[in-house]
Amino acid sequence: MSSAHTVFPVPEEVGRLYDRLTALDTAQTGGSLHLGYWEAEDDGVPLAEAADRLTDMMTDRLRVDGSHRVLDVGCGVGQPAMRIARRTGAHVTGISVSRGQVARATALAGAAGLSGRVEFRYADAMQLPFEDNSFDAVIAIESVFHMPDREQVFREIRRVLRPGGRLVLTDFFERAPIAAGMRSVMDRCLRDFIMTLARPEDYVPMLSRAGLRFTELLDITEQSVRRTFEQMSKARGDGGELRTAFDEAAVEKFGPADMVDVDEFGSVLLSAEKPL
Ligand SMILES: C[S@@+](CC[C@H](N)C(=O)[O-])C[C@H]1O[C@@H](n2cnc3c(N)ncnc32)[C@H](O)[C@@H]1O
Repeated sequence: MSSAHTVFPVPEEVGRLYDRLTALDTAQTGGSLHLGYWEAEDDGVPLAEAADRLTDMMTDRLRVDGSHRVLDVGCGVGQPAMRIARRTGAHVTGISVSRGQVARATALAGAAGLSGRVEFRYADAMQLPFEDNSFDAVIAIESVFHMPDREQVFREIRRVLRPGGRLVLTDFFERAPIAAGMRSVMDRCLRDFIMTLARPEDYVPMLSRAGLRFTELLDITEQSVRRTFEQMSKARGDGGELRTAFDEAAVEKFGPADMVDVDEFGSVLLSAEKPL
């Protein structure tokens, strides 16, 4: 199922990593903690805008409006949740295993006048503290790679989704077996960021065993990964805010520039629904 790497994510440890990484919420990322999305080589929009674009692509697939409740699994500092609430009118509940992120997201939502429309709480996706059938849609942007068992998370998501409700997520995955020369760079990244990678063929069976009906799998690597790492490494190289964030989090060995050439490291957009 998951790749052969030795990392086994522990939610408390992941939470502590993000407590230290709160400085990542910078002008460069616009508050989003995920990749950007660029359709074309000559599309010059900066990372913050391209990251919002990925959120919007995913949000459109949720097909929600002001009558709906959305769960954001692994909400970061709340930028995607606030954007979804503003764009669709839906009520959004975000969860994170980082208490620092929950506090920051709550403060940012208050400052933006969105307190009644978004809420954030500390919770582990492996065991969601919500009633069965309590959400119309679930979004998970670049979070399930931090979780000990994707299938268990999918089961929990299925349980809290109403029948007919949709799940849209992005995940990092191993597009092809990692070349021997890239193995140590990849392993270091997985270790520093407490991640595992699934393989493309894992997703449909995992969703199906969890009781979800698969609807779409899109390899978005070309539109997202390389450009994001290029922009991040530039900011880091310039001694910008991202450099400080990584150094403060004691993951200073991580080099976004090293990852630019790891073609096997991919990003996938996945959609599914709970059968009626
Ligand atoms: C890369 S960040 C993405 C944040 C946000 N989705 C965004 O795009 O801005 C990963 C997020 O997943 C959360 N996370 C990781 N493991 C989790 C778990 N077991 N339960 C809930 N959240 C988790 C982290 O706390 C963090 O907020």
